[in-house]
Amino acid sequence: MKITSFDHYKDVYKYSVEQPEEFWADIADTFTWRKKWDKVLEWNFKEPKIRWFEGAKLNITENCLDRHLETIGDNPAIIWEPNDPKEDHRVLTYRQLHDKVCQFANVLKNNGAKKGDRICIYMPMVPELAIALLACARIGATHSVVFGGFSAQSIADRIQDADCNIVITADGGFRGAKEIPLKSIIDDALVRCPSVQKVIVLTRTRTPVAMIKGRDVWWEDEIRKVETQGHKECPIEVMDAEDMLFILYTSGSTGKPKGVVHTCGGYMVYTGYTFDTTFQYQPDEVYFCTADIGWITGHSYIVYGPLSQGATSLMFEGVPTYPDAGRFWDIVDKFKVNIIYTAPTAIRSLMSYGDDFLKGKNLSSLTKLGSVGEPINEEAWHWFDEKIGHGHCPIVDTWWQTENGGHMITPIAGITPLKPGYASLPLPGVQPALFDESGKEIEGNDVSGNLCIKFPWPGMLRTTYGDHERCRQTYFAAYQDMYFTGDGCLRDEDGYYRITGRVDDVLNVSGHRIGTAEVENAINMHSTVVESAVVGYPHDIKGQGVYAFVVAPHKSGDEDLTRKDIIMTVSRIIGAIAKPDKIQFVSGLPKTRSGKIMRRILRKIAEGDTSNLGDTSTLLDPAVVDEIKAGAL
Ligand code: PRX
Repeated sequence: MKITSFDHYKDVYKYSVEQPEEFWADIADTFTWRKKWDKVLEWNFKEPKIRWFEGAKLNITENCLDRHLETIGDNPAIIWEPNDPKEDHRVLTYRQLHDKVCQFANVLKNNGAKKGDRICIYMPMVPELAIALLACARIGATHSVVFGGFSAQSIADRIQDADCNIVITADGGFRGAKEIPLKSIIDDALVRCPSVQKVIVLTRTRTPVAMIKGRDVWWEDEIRKVETQGHKECPIEVMDAEDMLFILYTSGSTGKPKGVVHTCGGYMVYTGYTFDTTFQYQPDEVYFCTADIGWITGHSYIVYGPLSQGATSLMFEGVPTYPDAGRFWDIVDKFKVNIIYTAPTAIRSLMSYGDDFLKGKNLSSLTKLGSVGEPINEEAWHWFDEKIGHGHCPIVDTWWQTENGGHMITPIAGITPLKPGYASLPLPGVQPALFDESGKEIEGNDVSGNLCIKFPWPGMLRTTYGDHERCRQTYFAAYQDMYFTGDGCLRDEDGYYRITGRVDDVLNVSGHRIGTAEVENAINMHSTVVESAVVGYPHDIKGQGVYAFVVAPHKSGDEDLTRKDIIMTVSRIIGAIAKPDKIQFVSGLPKTRSGKIMRRILRKIAEGDTSNLGDTSTLLDPAVVDEIKAGAL
């Protein structure tokens, strides 16, 4: 199934569209199943109902671990580089990782976990995080990972929504010069989460933490118990292909994050296939994905995709600029990394520090580069190409979403042609289509529109946890019989796709998806705020920044303090990642007579483009626009 040339890609693509079931069945055949499927695919996008490999039985960890033991058991599965370069790195071979996953799976069982439970994971980027995910999957529990940058309130919302009974966390985590008090944040969250019976706490920072009798246990103590019990193995729980594997919360245009649900069989096949295909992974290559496992990129392309393919996955605890802006390149040099997969925001940030941090770093091991999370501007693309890839490493600009499970539109490294700024061509099995606002498909080339997908792929979401109607409304209602991505897109004269950004009220800040309604709700929680409107604006490093227009009477001279209070409120309610970059106090928001905020006008003002604000005659109070324009930051 390896694609060997551009012409071969075209043939495979054609086959995947004409005979999708045969195409995916051939790929699924390369995995280990306890029982093969009765039917490859059953679907309709109306309900929606999507079932891949119906009737098949498997466990994803058997595919990520057990099946490699005989052949590559002593190969490194995970290489871990700590936050502090002076601390020792760690290597876990497939055999060691297998043993540790079995051990921790037994810890989970000892603590009452069973198939079907939902388990919340809030951990730093240490190997135990990957072990925790895999241990849940091994016993058939559904993991719900929450990124370390979210607040207690956000964690509580997610724990309640999924009704989790166990939390896995650590005393704290290191990120650059900062220490994040993870356990203490969990303690605050759990005040509102009566469903949680057990908290398993890994030691990382050795920060003093509260340990509540009967509820909180130390990871290390529990491992020792399992060792004395003599349980080395943990047999897999045999799962149906359509059983839930994990929930991952993501933001949309409404206030409440959605729990995107992925299932065992399709997700496994899709992440394995796309990892292998996009990166053209070769045995023994060292692959470094710089994402955090708290996001979908880490789930699919640090843990499940690479491990199912027997790859060596390098995980890094820290941040790109600690102790200095050369850290990624030190890591590449130290481990002779062959493939680095990162985000445009990281590239732009490192670029801004200048080329001094590249001096003396040997990057000659690199053969392939990847980008994900947001559109990559041409300047960053060329810097990545020239300074990091030295002009000879293909850059795969992978477009996809939490809901997609894996890569959708992307170059295939060394096989399909590249165009800077373009995600380029769909992977086999992916059928993109562009639509106009009236719901009509836009055919042909040199066009742009709203990006939809016509046909199911195995890695797609099946539902949003606990609210299937919301899933239908969000993704399957805008265009008939289509999955709607929420992204705008152009297809150029050669049929190559370029993602232009979200067309809904979702921001992409440093590659993180943030709903404007969510930030507004958080700002409105501040005691003096009457109302607010949040829009994005172009930001040199972050891609988009958060611009808040806030109606909040305050005493003169208090402006700065109120601003800081609002920022603190957002940090408390959502987390530091959603903090507004700019807050402009206004006396009112531009609204139509029916009370709808005219975001189009606010967006233009935030972008600094006030020359043509369009028709403002329908506004309730047009004068408010002049005031906002005059006070723009
Ligand atoms: O707008 C697109 C943007 O990120 C959104 C998905 O965000 P999330 O679910 O958090 O997943 C991010 C990592 C897969 C998309 O709707 N996006 C993602 N990758 C690209 C991108 N925009 C342009 N180019 C990309 N390569």
